[in-house]
Amino acid sequence: MFMEDCMVKSNERIVDGIYKMELINEKITNQSKAGQFLQIKVNKFDTPLLRRPISINEIKIDESTLVIYYKVVGKGTKIMADIKTGEVINVIGPLGTGFDIDMKNKNIAVVGGGIGIAPLIELCKSLYKDNNVFTYLGFYDIPYLVEEFKKYGNEIEISTVTGAAGKKGFVTGGLEKALLDNKIDIIYACGPNAMLKELKDIAGSLNIKCQLSLEERMACGIGACLGCSIETTDGEMKKVCYDGPVFWSNEVMLND
Ligand SMILES: Cc1cc2nc3c(=O)[nH]c(=O)nc-3n(C[C@H](O)[C@H](O)[C@H](O)COP(=O)(O)OP(=O)(O)OC[C@H]3O[C@@H](n4cnc5c(N)ncnc54)[C@H](O)[C@@H]3O)c2cc1C
Ligand code: FES
Repeated sequence: MFMEDCMVKSNERIVDGIYKMELINEKITNQSKAGQFLQIKVNKFDTPLLRRPISINEIKIDESTLVIYYKVVGKGTKIMADIKTGEVINVIGPLGTGFDIDMKNKNIAVVGGGIGIAPLIELCKSLYKDNNVFTYLGFYDIPYLVEEFKKYGNEIEISTVTGAAGKKGFVTGGLEKALLDNKIDIIYACGPNAMLKELKDIAGSLNIKCQLSLEERMACGIGACLGCSIETTDGEMKKVCYDGPVFWSNEVMLND
């Protein structure tokens, strides 16, 4: 983990409210792996005080570049959207444990909902050469990042709540049948809590191993403040920023 200044190589709007940023820093890029995240200081002032946790979308070692995708939801991400190419921002990372990607010859389902699809690109990149990757992506309205996912998987299925593209409804609709038809050995997922909770239940009922990337409000992001603690199924408390954000689904309690 490093605390480093990163040069903003690009920062552009992709679709309404969703932005892509590329950050140049050799040290953080070289240590990063799929499922880890960055704690971003969005400006050089005292407010906002807290850094914003954002997942690593793609690791480009040759270019010493990390790609992130973020949704503008509040003060911090609004400031990020106004950052210009060439500006420098301070970043702590890579943080968290990331996905367990030590898989070979498996049928893998990658399930993403909303901006939760962001960390799944680097995951698919790490898995697709040695495994069969089936990707299920859910959006509210307009899909994005789909062309990138197409590079790193066998099959891709899109759902939208509005019906603007792909199947109408949630990504979890009809998923059980797809998991059985494709003889899925392991599921990886990131997205809204309700989606993760449903996947935990589906994975449990079909007896399929499942890794979930969780989101919790964070302060320090490095395991020091206990602000992101969650309860595990054996009654222990774990820190999402340090022990996660990725957990096996049977390891954690997910509340509504
Ligand atoms: C491990 C992890 C990875 C994430 N990866 C991404 C990503 O790749 N892209 C993306 O768009 N978003 C991601 N998020 C969510 C992102 O951190 C929040 O949307 C962002 O912090 C909101 O900041 P804000 O100032 O715009 O919103 P505000 O609502 O003004 O934020 C107020 C405070 O609440 C915290 N907060 C608000 N929403 C969330 C949230 N959903 N999760 C955690 N903290 C929150 C903020 O960090 C801040 O401290 C991730 C969250 C976590 C925990
Ligand atoms: S945010 Fe401080 S321990 Fe996780």
